[in-house]
Amino acid sequence: MSTAHWYRDFAVREARGLSPTYEALAIAVSADRRVLALLDGLPADKRQPNLLFAAARYLGAPMAVPEEFGSWVVRHWSQLSVTMRHRRTQTNEPARCATLLPLLARLPQPLALLEVGASAGLCLYPDAYRYRYRDDASVLGPADSPVLLTCSINGDVPLPSAVPTVVWRAGIDLNPLDVADDDDLRWLEALIWPEQQPRRDRLHAAARIARADPPYLIKGDLLTDLPPLAAQAPADATLVIFHSAVLTYVPPDVRAAFIELVRGLRGHWISNEGVGVLPDLAATVDVEGGGPARFLLSLDGEPVAFTGPHGQEIDWLTPARHGAAGSS
Ligand SMILES: C[S@@+](CC[C@H](N)C(=O)[O-])C[C@H]1O[C@@H](n2cnc3c(N)ncnc32)[C@H](O)[C@@H]1O
Repeated sequence: MSTAHWYRDFAVREARGLSPTYEALAIAVSADRRVLALLDGLPADKRQPNLLFAAARYLGAPMAVPEEFGSWVVRHWSQLSVTMRHRRTQTNEPARCATLLPLLARLPQPLALLEVGASAGLCLYPDAYRYRYRDDASVLGPADSPVLLTCSINGDVPLPSAVPTVVWRAGIDLNPLDVADDDDLRWLEALIWPEQQPRRDRLHAAARIARADPPYLIKGDLLTDLPPLAAQAPADATLVIFHSAVLTYVPPDVRAAFIELVRGLRGHWISNEGVGVLPDLAATVDVEGGGPARFLLSLDGEPVAFTGPHGQEIDWLTPARHGAAGSS
């Protein structure tokens, strides 16, 4: 796909309806030969719209008027391209804990949590956030938590009565971010789309929790560095290896090798990834019912729910929806 096509596609399929700012900028970039030529000088994985726009915002670019944005990109290209080469799209969304919670809470307690592709580790604090699943239901979680996650539910979601007990939390990432570092926090903020102020507020509130009790994050790869980290988990806690919005960044052969690896380790495995990312899991459910922009949540390789990609909803699978493919 050409870079122009990529940006047009992003405008129409991803930004439309969610970010008028990015939709307009992506359309403008797709027609701006100067900017396209600059982007084409970067490695293919560094030409992404999300990376360009986050890096530009991180550096203070004007985002409101597409013509001004294009001129700014051309004028600031040396600085902008260094940021794009150095940084990655590593959005960390603590609200995904709301979709993980029903699974975490029903495993034998206490838990040792190991997140693969943890970014800054903000999904490692499911016990430190508060949750509201229904307007008429009580709020779960520590009363003094600065983070309240609201998540709508559909179907027979096994709602927990308490947050889990976590005695160990650790993560692996190719590039762990540190919310105590102002530049990393500014980068995480720049990754959130301009119109999504509640997500920025949530990031800062969750960062306060992580700064007070920093997660143990190691720099490493999900294949080579997972077994030694898992071996460090306390033996008297239930080890849960989980990941969300990560496997889309690795090729299919690495995804397959990762699944084989994680199945061979002790403990439980929770996957929360885009519906098409793990086709073998998706093959066992009625994917049409899930819609294209949703994640598939599974426990130990068994799909249990479709979830909102930012943790905003859980749609629990019924037996009938577990088996579009199962009738043959
Ligand atoms: C979109 S972020 C998701 C962060 C977090 N899981 C969440 O749900 O908020 C994806 C993360 O996966 C990491 N990642 C991608 N490929 C990886 C690999 N091969 N090994 C370890 N981490 C990886 C990236 O660096 C990034 O921080």
